Amino acid sequence: MKNNIPEHVAIIMDGNGRWAQAQGKKRTKGHKVGVDRAREIVEASVKLGVRCLTLFAFSSENWNRPEEEVSFLMELFIIALNREVKALNKNGVKLKFIGDIGAFNSKLQQSIVKAESITKDNDRLTLNIAANYGGRWDIIQAANQLIAETPGLSSVDETTLASKLVTADLPELDLLIRTGGETRISNFLIWQAAYAELYFTDTLWPDFDSSELEKAITIFSGRQRRYGLTGEQITKTEES
Ligand code: FPP
Repeated sequence: MKNNIPEHVAIIMDGNGRWAQAQGKKRTKGHKVGVDRAREIVEASVKLGVRCLTLFAFSSENWNRPEEEVSFLMELFIIALNREVKALNKNGVKLKFIGDIGAFNSKLQQSIVKAESITKDNDRLTLNIAANYGGRWDIIQAANQLIAETPGLSSVDETTLASKLVTADLPELDLLIRTGGETRISNFLIWQAAYAELYFTDTLWPDFDSSELEKAITIFSGRQRRYGLTGEQITKTEES
């Protein structure tokens, strides 16, 4: 972590529906504005020097929403992907989807593969879109890969398991933000959040602009991460 700017920030973007309903609009309007906000936060992250941003766009549980809303979201993802890929590429953003994307329709899967391939050599910011992702699914798919690779496997250690998680090549998660007033992790990066700072805000996602991100990062910078050590031990390590 350089100058107290977190290297890896993850966000649970919550509150689109409530934002729209509060204005007498359909929930889908909240999702549309949510995409605009995602674009703003990506741009702000590039400017601030964040190296990796992981956005929770669609959880494994989101399939249980009304069919109309799920179809709207799928269509919105395709439109947003096709529309934004050029600008992302120009800004040095490498796009990566994490999650079980095999469950999405083929049109969306094609847009994903294309966007990932166009941006694969960029290295300013890695933008991970968690789609059909669940933290428990991630741990289980990692374990299953290890079992498949090593016949007779009887035990694993942390490093080996972590090497098969979808975040294996990414920096450690430093800061996990959730908008929309709930104070839960909701099966997001449950393994990766072990030492992350958690930041909860009542601000609904369509209102979470770049100044809100800066505020979260400022608060993060003022917190001391102890990893189980005492404050004194940390000061000594920093001095040496
Ligand atoms: C959260 O609000 C929204 C979602 C889970 C849907 C997907 C997110 C977006 C459309 C934002 C843009 C993202 C990208 C990367 C394209 P909610 O519907 O859970 O709101 P509520 O809690 O008020 O019902």
